[in-house]
Amino acid sequence: MATALIRNGTILTDGGRAAADVFIEDGTITRVGPRLPPQADTVLDASGRYVIPGGIDAHTHLDMPAGDITSTDDFETGTIAAAHGGTTTVIDFATPEPGESLLAALDAWQAKAAGKAVVDYGFHMVLRDFSERTSAEVRALAGREGVTSFKMFMAYPGRLMADDGAIFGAMRGTRDQGGLVMIHAENGGVIEVLVAEALRRGDTAPKIHALTRPPGAEREAAARAIALAEMAAAPVFIVHLSSAEALEAVRGGRERGVAVFAETCPQYLCLSDAEYERAGFEAAKFVMSPPLRPAAHQEALWRGLAARELDTVGTDHCPFGFSDPPHKQRGRDDFSKIPNGAPGIETRLMLLWDEGVRTGRITPERFVEITAAAPAKIFGLWPRKGTIAEGSDADIVLWDPDRRVTLSATAHHMRVDYSLYEGRTITGAPETVLSRGEVIVDRGAFLGHTGRGRFLKRSAAGAASA
Ligand code: URP
Ligand code: ZN
Ligand code: ZN
Repeated sequence: MATALIRNGTILTDGGRAAADVFIEDGTITRVGPRLPPQADTVLDASGRYVIPGGIDAHTHLDMPAGDITSTDDFETGTIAAAHGGTTTVIDFATPEPGESLLAALDAWQAKAAGKAVVDYGFHMVLRDFSERTSAEVRALAGREGVTSFKMFMAYPGRLMADDGAIFGAMRGTRDQGGLVMIHAENGGVIEVLVAEALRRGDTAPKIHALTRPPGAEREAAARAIALAEMAAAPVFIVHLSSAEALEAVRGGRERGVAVFAETCPQYLCLSDAEYERAGFEAAKFVMSPPLRPAAHQEALWRGLAARELDTVGTDHCPFGFSDPPHKQRGRDDFSKIPNGAPGIETRLMLLWDEGVRTGRITPERFVEITAAAPAKIFGLWPRKGTIAEGSDADIVLWDPDRRVTLSATAHHMRVDYSLYEGRTITGAPETVLSRGEVIVDRGAFLGHTGRGRFLKRSAAGAASA
């Protein structure tokens, strides 16, 4: 039996902090307490460090096809980058082709991850519609396969957009299976009109991407999704929430008693639409949906995180090359052809600590909650993941609150040729990262091995209050 002991640290969970040691046997935490006997195969000294649960990133797009290109990180490179940033679980999105069965899509995503992922992983399933066949497959997914969350799009007409009837049907159909519908909340019809008008005017620059996806389009869709959930008596999870207006819709739904969960992303907390004013074609690096918003939205989102109106922070990691490969260049003459998405799987915890904890906007305990505990609870992984307790997987980060890191494409591990935060120096970073008791990153060195990550069958999603 392999044993490990983490000594002299301060354990930090969503429930509080304590000076205690952690004993691990065969990948599981078996004891948490003061001054445990210092006998183990591996002994780690966590003096001056926080001992926190490994991060859970419930929003990644690894090896994701987008037309004839694919997001540049696969399950190997993406999860190695995640591990360097202190994330030890990812939940990615399996996406069926039009007409493809959901179970076939799950098989396809399992094949992408198996033998490659270095941390544990699960899948959400994208739903394009909700038919009798979908309903039967949802039952199999939620019951047998442990896939209990389902993403639907209110944007991208003709490609991924689902109509209100399909969303309402899916909310009712997944609810009784312990399922949770996740919503990309942007009004696709309105955006389509605004994009067509802009292109007719000859407005083709990347910054027009943001102007044609206004906060109002996000507010309307979020409010509509919440109203559909209310009528369906089902929970709903709004992904990548970017604006004060959409947050207002979440608040309104909660006041009416709707079980609304919401996620934001580091880019909406730490960047603004000023990035779209960059010279040349640089602004294309920041083309994602929803787009970056005027700076005032950032403070609203931070307040929402502190006030528990927002539940989680995922990355929406969806990297496309700027020059190598030249994915983003496809939109040089037409912003609507720039592949949507940006990298972030590695930098989530560091940015949230630096901009959230160090500034006093959120407490260290809330940091653990939004990065690990709440996603575990909402997506059916708790208490196996997301906490440091006897019986939980030993996914643990020794967090150095004083370590300074300069974020840069030349130093990061994500397989993409740019950083959203090039040159920004942050304070607070992982020192040692354990996944199921195994040290996979130590002081910047990757010590894990390809394919060690395991698929996670999840239990009911959306039931627990975060
Ligand atoms: O621009 C984005 N967010 N790309 C990834 C796909 C999505 O909608 O989450
Ligand atoms: Zn989305
Ligand atoms: Zn996404």
